[in-house]
Amino acid sequence: MIYTDIDLDKVDINGKEPVKEPERQYYFMAMCREWVREKEKEAGRPLTYITQTFGCQMNAKDSEKLAGILEKVGFHETDTEEADFVAYNTCTVRENANTRVYGRLGYLNSLKRKNPNMMIALCGCMMQEDAVVEKIRKSYRFVDIIFGTHNIFKLAELIYSRLTSKGMIIDIWKDTDQIVEDLPSERKFKFKAGVNIMYGCNNFCSYCIVPYVRGRERSRNPEDIIKEIKELTADGVVEIMLLGQNVNSYGKTLNNPISFAELLKEIEKIEGLKRIRFMTSHPKDLSDSLIEVMKASKKICSHLHLPVQSGSSNVLKIMNRRYTKEDYLSLVDRIKTAMPDISLTTDIIVGFPGETEEDFLETLEVVKKVRYDSAYTFLYSKRSGTPAAQMEDQVDEAVAKERFDRLLKVIQEISGELTARHEGEIKEVLVEEVNEQNNTLLTGRLSNNILVHFTGTPDMIGSLIPVKLTECKGFYYIGEVAY
Ligand code: SAH
Ligand code: SF4
Ligand code: F3S
Repeated sequence: MIYTDIDLDKVDINGKEPVKEPERQYYFMAMCREWVREKEKEAGRPLTYITQTFGCQMNAKDSEKLAGILEKVGFHETDTEEADFVAYNTCTVRENANTRVYGRLGYLNSLKRKNPNMMIALCGCMMQEDAVVEKIRKSYRFVDIIFGTHNIFKLAELIYSRLTSKGMIIDIWKDTDQIVEDLPSERKFKFKAGVNIMYGCNNFCSYCIVPYVRGRERSRNPEDIIKEIKELTADGVVEIMLLGQNVNSYGKTLNNPISFAELLKEIEKIEGLKRIRFMTSHPKDLSDSLIEVMKASKKICSHLHLPVQSGSSNVLKIMNRRYTKEDYLSLVDRIKTAMPDISLTTDIIVGFPGETEEDFLETLEVVKKVRYDSAYTFLYSKRSGTPAAQMEDQVDEAVAKERFDRLLKVIQEISGELTARHEGEIKEVLVEEVNEQNNTLLTGRLSNNILVHFTGTPDMIGSLIPVKLTECKGFYYIGEVAY
């Protein structure tokens, strides 16, 4: 499903390439399509592609943009890496994300030996690091195209460059203030979609590499966002996830500044749209007017992801999070007073440099006070170039691991109790898919993001169905349709 439809047949490919975007990319898409058609004839079969996402939801959204361009150019999606075009969209937020990419590259090389026409593209956050690009340039010569996070929209142009020149194409931009609209995007689900509202991050939390690899914060124009969501709903989408590293600071840098709360009010008015989600919220920028808007809304889901990172004000200060434990707890209080039933989830880092046992106990205390429906926990990972990587008192791995396990236990206990609180109730479920293990069951999500499995028919996929939550099984429910 490509939802920005461009008629490549109307693109003039005999003249010179346009300078202006997105017309320039339409031109290169049309050129690449000619090439794909020729290759298809030669091979006597369609050419295939696969995109692999290694990172977060923004990374996944970028992969959909890559897929949109590849589809438009004439490649057909496949689910194996034995494809004619393989794109790895990388992540570098923690060391293990990098390790996974290097691990898989060897395998790609063996596939390329069997299919020398195969094209391999590496892009995403890891490619914004000079040392990574250097390593690939030297030791992974079989890679065809390397690009970064700022020029995803140029994929067709980069493919064309590869076709018309010899050797690896490397195109990394340090930063950009450009936002190119009206390019194709291929959605994974028919009924739900991610929508970027902003790019980049200005917060520079001291452990985090994202601001270095994603550049400065820039917001999309509200009109472009609304237009995209209207096109999506016209195409069957009922749930959207608004994406940004810190959605609460949306709009501040626009020529006509508008707040995130105001944007949400506009999105709420879009007919056909049933559910609105967003991530991520930085606690320091979460306004009371956002709480008001969430409370009054019929469409915003009953879920807020509010990363705390640590419960210790000392650690938070060194992390450069710009809130204290007390600020965070009082914010949670205001949210829960306004919306007593809301599900809160969070991210926590364990073993940040200088974290003492006392600091860690404060994290446990916050977890017990807030009672998160679920939490993503991470062992601190040193990212070169970030201030925390230079800090002296790095925590011993074994100590961090032991804290991590204790934290996980507490989170899981609370999470189990909280999930069960809706047992017996009837709630709306957005049906997502036929259950993978048992095809008589459907799987969907509650407004608070919890999974429900129930007996139903595939035609229900994409609809909101009232379901009685008969039994809580820990992290999900078994239910039955309640008409
Ligand atoms: N913008 C979001 C988070 C993006 S990264 C926010 O501010 O909440 C997702 C999560 O990865 C972070 O919330 C943090 O918990 C974790 N993370 C980031 N850098 C990390 C590092 N160096 N080590 C371990 N976890 C990290
Ligand atoms: Fe990283 Fe902090 Fe920006 Fe989130 S807000 S992406 S944790 S620097
Ligand atoms: Fe990873 Fe980049 Fe997202 S580093 S977490 S893919 S912004």
